[in-house]
Amino acid sequence: MKILVTGGAGFIGSAVVRLAVSRGHSVVNLDALTYAACLANVTPVADNPLYAFEQADIRDRPALDSVFDAHQPDIVMHLAAESHVDRSIDGPGDFIKSNITGTFSMLETARKYWVERGKPNGFRFHHISTDEVFGSLPADPAMLFTEDTPYDPRSPYSASKASSDHLVRAWHETYGLPVVLSNCSNNYGPYHFPEKLIPVVILNTLAGKSLPIYGDGSNIRDWLYVEDHADALLLLATQGKVGRSYNIGGENERTNLELVKTICQILDRLKPRAHGTYADLITFVTDRPGHDARYAIDPSRIRDELGWRPSVTVEEGLERTVRWYLENEDWWRPLLARKGVGQRLGADQKPAQ
Ligand SMILES: NC(=O)c1ccc[n+]([C@@H]2O[C@H](COP(=O)([O-])OP(=O)(O)OC[C@H]3O[C@@H](n4cnc5c(N)ncnc54)[C@H](O)[C@@H]3O)[C@@H](O)[C@H]2O)c1
Repeated sequence: MKILVTGGAGFIGSAVVRLAVSRGHSVVNLDALTYAACLANVTPVADNPLYAFEQADIRDRPALDSVFDAHQPDIVMHLAAESHVDRSIDGPGDFIKSNITGTFSMLETARKYWVERGKPNGFRFHHISTDEVFGSLPADPAMLFTEDTPYDPRSPYSASKASSDHLVRAWHETYGLPVVLSNCSNNYGPYHFPEKLIPVVILNTLAGKSLPIYGDGSNIRDWLYVEDHADALLLLATQGKVGRSYNIGGENERTNLELVKTICQILDRLKPRAHGTYADLITFVTDRPGHDARYAIDPSRIRDELGWRPSVTVEEGLERTVRWYLENEDWWRPLLARKGVGQRLGADQKPAQ
């Protein structure tokens, strides 16, 4: 199977690339290499003959056409996107361009390619999206996002992803393009760019810096280990039903405060401080504007139809993640110098210039 992965130099895309190559698939990684990309994420497969890299922007139709023509993929897994909510508050324009216009270009390129080849049966366009398109849930544990939950995006990031989901469904209904969609909860794990909560907390503890928690830390997320997510994505890309969407969750709801305290406990054990506990570094900071209270996934469709379940609890996944950051300073240290990393973003809502 030849798989074209967009965004394969990012966090989740690179996990998909590594896993797909390890399972014997040919993979073409198409990525523009934005600030969030890191080609070191795919070092484990970089010299494998099954792997190829193409630097291209998903808004560039001629470039996409030539990548499709050159590599002739059987499956497209579309992950390339601007992904950080705080950056979407400061500069929504890039999110509209990459997530909406970029997805439109990908759909048109894929449609042309599929039609010109006589609409081969096995072709799939798998669009990877987020649970944030569903909005925010109340605390009631019985309330979960299902595939039928109405869309109610509340940040520029989630609105741009919701728009891209609608485009993907429209290309299926209107043109018959064989699509599969998935909406997943918050990912974490190795190679997570150091602007997201979990790597920020791990790296700040190691540097003895404060651990910033937005608001009162009561926001709830359903945490999904990235390698479990990559496994679910490959299953959906190859066996998901055409035209259907699937919610993927970790079955691991935690408040942000609980999550940060767990990371502190793991580090207290693996790399104890001279005095006290890392939890002493926790600091509550101004909340994110429009911060969604709770996301929680009902994963019964992917579980019942395809037999998929997450393989780790959040405690196991966090321990693996913390150990990975302790052992891979060469990976994360250079990324701390990238623009915006280590700064508070998305807090003041000044209009972009
Ligand atoms: N991280 C999460 O917790 C999470 C949760 C749910 C869904 N998602 C979705 O999964 C996908 C991957 O997320 P991630 O966390 O790995 O993101 P990421 O920011 O780590 O990586 C995104 C990758 O896309 C590339 N990219 C961005 N714009 C591009 C463009 N115009 N053309 C080509 N490449 C471009 C970047 O260079 C980068 O390598 C996204 O679509 C995101 O919306 C992420």
